[in-house]
Amino acid sequence: MKVKVLTVFGTRPEAIKMAPLVKELQKREEIECKVLVTAQHRQMLDSVLDIFDITPDFDLNIMQHGQTITDITSRVMYGCQEVFKSYKPEIVLVHGDTTTTFAASLAAFYEKIPVGHVEAGLRSDNIYSPYPEEMNRRLTGRLASYHFAPTIANRENLVKENVSRRDILVTGNTVIDALLSVVNDNYKFENEMLNTIDFNEKKVILLTCHRRENWGEPMNNIFKACNELVLDNPDVHLIFPMHMNPIVRDSAHEFMGNNDRISLIEPLDYEPFANLMSKVYMIMTDSGGIQEEGPALGKPVMVLRTETERPEAVEAGTVKVVGVDPDKIYRVGMRLVQDSSYYESIANAVNPYGDGKASSRIADHILFKFGISNKEVDEFK
Ligand code: UD1
Ligand code: UDP
Repeated sequence: MKVKVLTVFGTRPEAIKMAPLVKELQKREEIECKVLVTAQHRQMLDSVLDIFDITPDFDLNIMQHGQTITDITSRVMYGCQEVFKSYKPEIVLVHGDTTTTFAASLAAFYEKIPVGHVEAGLRSDNIYSPYPEEMNRRLTGRLASYHFAPTIANRENLVKENVSRRDILVTGNTVIDALLSVVNDNYKFENEMLNTIDFNEKKVILLTCHRRENWGEPMNNIFKACNELVLDNPDVHLIFPMHMNPIVRDSAHEFMGNNDRISLIEPLDYEPFANLMSKVYMIMTDSGGIQEEGPALGKPVMVLRTETERPEAVEAGTVKVVGVDPDKIYRVGMRLVQDSSYYESIANAVNPYGDGKASSRIADHILFKFGISNKEVDEFK
């Protein structure tokens, strides 16, 4: 008898971080691994599924333009209920903090199916930032029976909320498993514009920005500051693979659309994006995952948010949390671009988030918990 494991995800970052785990689970003879995608994202999800060669067993296809958090929650819950009732998984695995994550966990709880939470225990201490992700991950944590915490600090956050240490495994973050599988020193881009950039001659800044709490004024200010920074430094070229959300794209075009040294491009597939990260001078972002990937590649990361739930690389010095004040973004950006000794002092590869073995730890632990293996798993330290 195989253990029936159903992995559930719906957005780009969940797909990137669940893909190595799906691959690992599929390799295990004792596990029947099926994949349910909600398609909270459609195109950005499909691109990841293609790269990792994953064909979903169930596809809820819920994405709508202008979808609200409530739309997503209800559509995911209805869709999951149907699949959970018919397929009857023995464990549902969810990832991180999106609305797909929370709604799928609640639907599993209602069917009394245990939930395994991958990337558990990240906390920002402010329920509105990131919004709604901070609440999504807290609620998922309440619903879960198995907590796969990337770091020791993440485990301790859960312990403070009275989660039993017995139910937590420190695994490292599966994003490092994914990153190591796609970054390659000899990588050649298919995108002509990226191929023509001289990454040694130019200081290339990679920007991403999409968070709900940044929509409107904060995002406009971020883009204005980026535009100024590029105008004042002729050796700088900024690349912004824009998120597909029209709110983000309109603001980017308005405040950075008339600058020859700013390239506003379509979202990149994960393979070119990860390889672009490995070649650029530095990264500016409000993304969660990129705060983990940048440091692993030795790239300074300016976080365009007021706080972070990922303090490990801040402590290591590679990540600077600069907030959304345009003057501060400009100042810190100028220092990183113009002060080479400051830049060199923080551009060091640090890997506090994982060692590339998170997925195999999770798969081994499931087998241990379901009584198929008697070998306890060594945690990530
Ligand atoms: C979602 C997650 C956020 C995560 C982010 C990763 C929630 C509430 N938000 O935010 O936690 O950090 O994904 O990117 O779970 N769109 C497309 N095609 C796509 C993807 C998006 O057209 O492939 C457009 C659609 O118009 C969609 C809009 O973007 O309505 C917003 O997507 P949504 O998932 O609601 O929010 P995100 O900001 O992407
Ligand atoms: N990413 C990508 N293409 C892009 C931008 C980002 O593949 O054009 C990857 C990035 O490497 C990271 C993930 O998408 O692994 C981050 O997703 P996003 O910023 O959408 O969400 P967050 O991490 O903030 O939840």
